[in-house]
Amino acid sequence: MAQEYAKEAILKIADVISSGEVVPVETAHISGVSYLTIGEHGVEFLEFLVSLGAKVSVFTTSNPAATDLGGVLEIDKETLEGQRRIYKALWAMGVSTISSCTPYDFILTRPRTFHAWAESNAITYINTFRDAWSDKNPGPLALLGAIAGFVPKTPLYTLEGRRPTAYVKIDVGPLDSLEAGVVGALIGERLGSGVPYLSGAVFRDEESRREFAAALSTYSSMVFAVVEGVTPHWWEYLHMGDFRDKITISRDDVAKYLGDVETPDAVYIGCPFADPDTILWVLEEVKKRGPAKRPIYISTSPHVYKQLGKLAETASRLNIIIFAGTCLVVSPFTRRFKSIATNSLKAAFYIPKLHEVRVIPCRKEKCIELAYA
Ligand code: F3S
Repeated sequence: MAQEYAKEAILKIADVISSGEVVPVETAHISGVSYLTIGEHGVEFLEFLVSLGAKVSVFTTSNPAATDLGGVLEIDKETLEGQRRIYKALWAMGVSTISSCTPYDFILTRPRTFHAWAESNAITYINTFRDAWSDKNPGPLALLGAIAGFVPKTPLYTLEGRRPTAYVKIDVGPLDSLEAGVVGALIGERLGSGVPYLSGAVFRDEESRREFAAALSTYSSMVFAVVEGVTPHWWEYLHMGDFRDKITISRDDVAKYLGDVETPDAVYIGCPFADPDTILWVLEEVKKRGPAKRPIYISTSPHVYKQLGKLAETASRLNIIIFAGTCLVVSPFTRRFKSIATNSLKAAFYIPKLHEVRVIPCRKEKCIELAYA
């Protein structure tokens, strides 16, 4: 019954947005699983699907929740209970509750395979750096798609819909994580929509690729960019490009975007979730100086957290608080601070809006320095 319900719903949406065409997907990744964002109505919708006997028909993972897995960030009882019901419903449907916004860490999406993902940074990452195809599916649509096994065939699931529309020359770099985020934000703000083709972009490391993907999709509706020499099939995209817009992002543009830095209450790294290299880098920097004066929060995926073992305890003695499964953007824990320094342009966009906390964007090195200011 649930399968029929999901199939019918997707076909009806497809009638409106993709002339009735649908595309089968290999995996799904659902958002809207935090009690803080979906509230009571969202939980009831999930429980309604469970009551119909809903089960996902493709491998399906889930986004961060309102609570961290180790209970490092304190949270009220009502949110805890709501989150417990959400997890229960997701498990009943067969969802792998990885509580991560970087599912690409371990789902090695192959080029030109189809996916129904709902977390914008992750969609942009697999589209851009793997040429694996996903549109930005709203959370409920991704879940219904996971149950049905297909989603509407919107333009990003077609080669034609992925034709680059803007030629973007990057005259700055190699890009560190902050610069990569600023470049993503600037392209997003200047173009708004379409498919950018980036020439001359060099990302310094994995973290900078994540920050670029997160910022591009935060500051615009775009979830796909072609990066010359990096995106699989980039040459094919270059030849099919229809470059209506041409823009250049210079070192000055990046510098102008960043304001003065000031001393924060706390430092935050890990939006999108930090990879092991980033965590180890922060640990090494802090070890050289001794315990930080201000707390350094790092959010990461539960599976990365488990790999850290005893390192998380070592970190906490240095005033580095590593937590897993949620982040300072979606957690109300953030409201205890007046200002936070971060190298994430996505966090810089959302934290002031959601929590009225000031954000100071800074390079990772500077963020660490500020923790001792
Ligand atoms: Fe992930 Fe939270 Fe940022 S879900 S992308 S760390 S806003």
